[in-house]
Amino acid sequence: MDKQELIRIAVEMQTKAHAPYSNYRVGAAVMTEDGTIIGGCNVESSSYGLTCCAERTALYRAIAEGHNTFKALAVATPNGGSPCGACRQVIWDLCGEIPVLIVAAEGQVIETTSRDLFPFPFGDDHLA
Ligand code: THU
Repeated sequence: MDKQELIRIAVEMQTKAHAPYSNYRVGAAVMTEDGTIIGGCNVESSSYGLTCCAERTALYRAIAEGHNTFKALAVATPNGGSPCGACRQVIWDLCGEIPVLIVAAEGQVIETTSRDLFPFPFGDDHLA
């Protein structure tokens, strides 16, 4: 798995962020089962609550393009911020247990997993 390329795309996606309210530019990239890398960025709304984080943009874009199995996800923020609670739920739902690479501006990378980011998860196994 080309983690360096995944990280490179996540960093590049920060330039696409639509973040006029927070000015906090986030990029994400998800690697699909066949090795395709799909990027996403945060897209903010003037009503704030409708904002979509970079991680969810990348995953929803990947789903819309026909991918449904994921091997890894990278997220790049200005200062090493990690996925919000809503994204942790969605990452768990769509990806299960995968490596998550968190990249800070200085190029430092923390590698964790979707499982470690989201202990005691709610998931589809709780639904009939
Ligand atoms: N944001 C993300 O896109 N991903 C994260 O992991 C953390 C937060 C965005 C949402 C909002 O546009 C901005 O960062 C500030 O919260």
